[in-house]
Amino acid sequence: MKTLKELRAYAQSTMTPIIRPQSAKILKELCQTRAPKRILEIGTAIGYSASLMLLYCPKAEVVTIEKDPQMIAFAKQTFKLRGLEKRVTLMQTDAMVALEKLSSDGEKFDLIFLDGPKGQYFKYLPLLKRLLASKGVLLADDVLFHGYVKMPGDPGHKHRTIVASLRSFISDLQQDKAFIAKLIEIEDGLLLCERLN
Ligand SMILES: C[S@@+](CC[C@H](N)C(=O)[O-])C[C@H]1O[C@@H](n2cnc3c(N)ncnc32)[C@H](O)[C@@H]1O
Repeated sequence: MKTLKELRAYAQSTMTPIIRPQSAKILKELCQTRAPKRILEIGTAIGYSASLMLLYCPKAEVVTIEKDPQMIAFAKQTFKLRGLEKRVTLMQTDAMVALEKLSSDGEKFDLIFLDGPKGQYFKYLPLLKRLLASKGVLLADDVLFHGYVKMPGDPGHKHRTIVASLRSFISDLQQDKAFIAKLIEIEDGLLLCERLN
């Protein structure tokens, strides 16, 4: 499976969650306009969004994090088939472990694409802020969680924790004077955050 089109068709037929089309267009435009050199992704899945970023940032390298062994095996194939493997580092572990390691190594990234476990975004935030380079951009996918995040009132027992965590994630970034955070209400919601300093 070589092309992004083929990967999307595969994801659809196997119900594998990947970035939705309009959100992918925003990620692509971000790559084209900002030309980041170092990119961090949380949530590789089959390697669709990582491939997209590598294709539209021909000089960039991507560090991507995934813990599911089946996804890891598929993503490796994706990168190899496209000849992208030299520009990708796939960290095969839990995202929190990987983020702590990258932070303690003093790594910095110009673009961070956050597309992992939604309930953990807020917990990851202090590490993500440390990992984001000056003037860098953080794009977080699915922040509206099927619309529950913007619905007034209690989302119910099943979704209470994840919705509360996403609301904290969004409001922290919107109130942080070091960032301009814009909520883009398309598909399942994106939060686009630009670091000012
Ligand atoms: C929405 S998918 C990523 C889609 C991918 N970014 C794309 O658009 O092509 C989320 C991925 O995060 C992975 N994931 C979930 N929890 C994780 C964790 N704690 N650590 C690392 N990866 C995790 C899942 O296995 C899944 O493959």
